[in-house]
Amino acid sequence: MNTLIQKLHNAKNSQELESIRLEALGKKGLITQKFSELKALEGEEKRQFAQTINTLKQEFETLHNAKKLELQTQELQESLKQEKIDVSLFTSRSHRSLGHPISYTKDRIIDYFMQLGYELRTGPLIEDDFHNFSALNLPEYHPARDMQDTFYFKDNMLLRTHTSPVQIRTMQEQTPPIKMICPGPTFRRDYDLTHTPMFHQVEGLVVDKGNQASFANLKFTLEDFLKYIFGDVKVRFRSSFFPFTEPSAEADISCVFCAGKGCRVCSDTGWLEVLGCGVVDEYVFEAVGYKNVSGYAFGMGIERLAMLTCGVGDLRSFFETDLRVLEQF
Ligand code: DAH
Repeated sequence: MNTLIQKLHNAKNSQELESIRLEALGKKGLITQKFSELKALEGEEKRQFAQTINTLKQEFETLHNAKKLELQTQELQESLKQEKIDVSLFTSRSHRSLGHPISYTKDRIIDYFMQLGYELRTGPLIEDDFHNFSALNLPEYHPARDMQDTFYFKDNMLLRTHTSPVQIRTMQEQTPPIKMICPGPTFRRDYDLTHTPMFHQVEGLVVDKGNQASFANLKFTLEDFLKYIFGDVKVRFRSSFFPFTEPSAEADISCVFCAGKGCRVCSDTGWLEVLGCGVVDEYVFEAVGYKNVSGYAFGMGIERLAMLTCGVGDLRSFFETDLRVLEQF
């Protein structure tokens, strides 16, 4: 037994320690064998012998556990020393991730407008009919409501179909001048290659007293913004219709895939539509009780911009958490 204890003290690593434990407590171990000797004994002699070997066993186990802890700590320290990484060393390939294309694109949009002094706003995802539709000049039975397949709850509540209700909420809470953007999720009953039931938009609204906020300001800002996001592209404004803006326009950029020559992605037009915008309709100002002000607004889908800047063909792949797709960013 004394030699076993001596061996325990001298053990240099966990493997050595384990073989000493087996020597004592394994099937044919010294202490195990002593227990089998018990069978041959009886009465007081048996009781005393049993006590002795139990004490021996306990003593061995206590020492063994203490030594085990000591060796494990030592081994951990050594492996930590060996695995130390010098983060200052130069490597030729850097794997810094851009993050998810949606957050990356959203952050770039926010960066641009915040530099221009726009305030960041949020609004509820569950909206009422007034903020999502009526106040935006989309009264009940207005045909344009059909363009936005809505998820309805009870009592005229719904999942917001666009970020435009945040325009109304901001104007209700603040007085002009207003310069805000609101990024966030929006919902529509749609699902195919270019539509998912949940998607993201960024809304922008500028309101100023008198007639200071003009279509010319809007055009200048959005053209500069689109060049910031897409680089060297051409930008054009096409007349369009939104119930809450008059006049309304859609902004197109020259196709980023064929540089405007015409390809499958741009349906051979050379142009890609990227956002909607316009001068805030008088009716909207009336709905929030504003007088003698002017303003412009714009709205864009973050997924659309992300698909075009990150070269993703199927919108659904943004939401399927497939690591093979995500790892590319
Ligand atoms: N809310 C519109 C949509 O979901 C996008 C939009 C267009 C927002 C024009 C605007 C705007 O603020 O002026 O399709």
